[in-house]
Amino acid sequence: MTDAPPAELKSRLEAHGQTHVLRWWDELSAVQRQRLSRQIESLDLERIAALWASRQHAGQRPQTEDLADIARRAVPPASIVRLPQTPQARDDWQRAQKTGEELLRAGKVGAILVAGGQGTRLGFDKPKGVFPIGPVSHASLFQILAEQVLARSRRAGKPIPYFIMTSDATHADTVAFFTEHKFFGLPPGDVFFFEQGNMPAVDAATGKLLMADKGTLSTSPDGHGGMLAALAKAGLLDEMKRRGIEFLHYHQVDNPTAIVCDPVFLGFHAQRGAEMSIKVVAKRSAGERMGVAVDVDGRTQIIEYSDLPADVAGKTDPQGELLLWAGSTAIHVFSRSFLDRVAHSDAALPFHIAHKKVPYCDERGSHVAPERENAYKFERFIFDALPAAERSLVLETDRGREFNPVKNAAGDDSPDTAREALLRLHRGWLRDAGAVVDDQTAVEVSPLFALDADETRAKVQPGTRVTEPTFFSPANS
Ligand code: UD1
Repeated sequence: MTDAPPAELKSRLEAHGQTHVLRWWDELSAVQRQRLSRQIESLDLERIAALWASRQHAGQRPQTEDLADIARRAVPPASIVRLPQTPQARDDWQRAQKTGEELLRAGKVGAILVAGGQGTRLGFDKPKGVFPIGPVSHASLFQILAEQVLARSRRAGKPIPYFIMTSDATHADTVAFFTEHKFFGLPPGDVFFFEQGNMPAVDAATGKLLMADKGTLSTSPDGHGGMLAALAKAGLLDEMKRRGIEFLHYHQVDNPTAIVCDPVFLGFHAQRGAEMSIKVVAKRSAGERMGVAVDVDGRTQIIEYSDLPADVAGKTDPQGELLLWAGSTAIHVFSRSFLDRVAHSDAALPFHIAHKKVPYCDERGSHVAPERENAYKFERFIFDALPAAERSLVLETDRGREFNPVKNAAGDDSPDTAREALLRLHRGWLRDAGAVVDDQTAVEVSPLFALDADETRAKVQPGTRVTEPTFFSPANS
């Protein structure tokens, strides 16, 4: 094949010194050429050049130093609602719950699941949501989360549209998995898959786009902050509005114990007139890989763990407790109008620049697996929208109840710890209902059987003896 690359494509690349990506054009098939052209067309080359330059011109001074300066001014968040310790606080929580339930009954609530990540740390080659986590049922993360949405919507008597963000790394497998499992009972018309964008990796020294192979740019998902542009592009912000959705519960795919569409959280968010809210738990240790919710210069924001200098992370209060204790569970409530506003302001979310080892195809066409960081990758984080909120709320939640993510293949935050947490939680609900179950017996409660201890109590007879592994599902209610 000898056709030259399209002139327009070439001149765009020339303007930014990136024509090397067409080096193997002559060797590519028509399909490969088309794919590469599409990849190039989707790039904002000017932005990429500016991001690389911003990093480069920082010279010896790493970009994280500016963030470190900010982190040094951080104090615990003022707008926090702690777990209830007094009768009055418990009343407040009950009132919040009622408000949240009313919002659900009014059909004003939708849910957003972010599932576009590559799950590198878990070392699982499918989308993380497909991972089997139910200790008895082996239900997948997707199933446990989707069934919570279904159960909540049945309780409310109103649909809860579920907006599921994928990326090119996870899209096809995710849609196929939901289809194969009949959307876990959700009406297919209430499930919206939308694909986030990509950002290319560039050579750290030269700013040149890296090639994954002769016909493909090296790209990766643009971070969960890409959700805003992706929702807008797919017309889903309009869909939310059309359906009368006012509040969106946001959760990550890795946490099976996230209380999806938690009425208490929705209720506090609405009562306080917040535009964006976040649930936090006490960090286990200064070095735990969690973002922290803090106030800086009077505004609430999240500082990501990678941007928190060790000396700041380790600061303690007079009681010896971590000063910046409020670890982000990455569970949020957004007001739809707020999402709409920030989605239309490109400046709302900055790009974070990460120095990474990225395999690439060199100028001779050979594959190189670098031993040291060779590239910059660019990501936006949705939690960076927090300072743009006129009002925000930070709500403390119980760690054992709600934060048991699957991040690593083994050790902390692994499938083992998440399964243990589900067992502990569901055993607790059953015992609370008066059932007899010992610590050695595996039990699991399907969200379609019960969403919490109260519902379990309504369905399980006191004195019920559970002596073998049991999955409480609608089949045995
Ligand atoms: C994340 C948070 C951290 C928080 C912790 C709680 C970030 C950058 N940090 O850390 O502050 O304390 O969770 O568990 O998020 N995802 C996408 N698209 C992407 C990248 C990620 O959809 O481009 C999704 C993933 O599928 C996952 C979630 O975002 O559901 C979190 O991503 P991950 O990279 O695992 O974040 P953590 O480092 O665990």
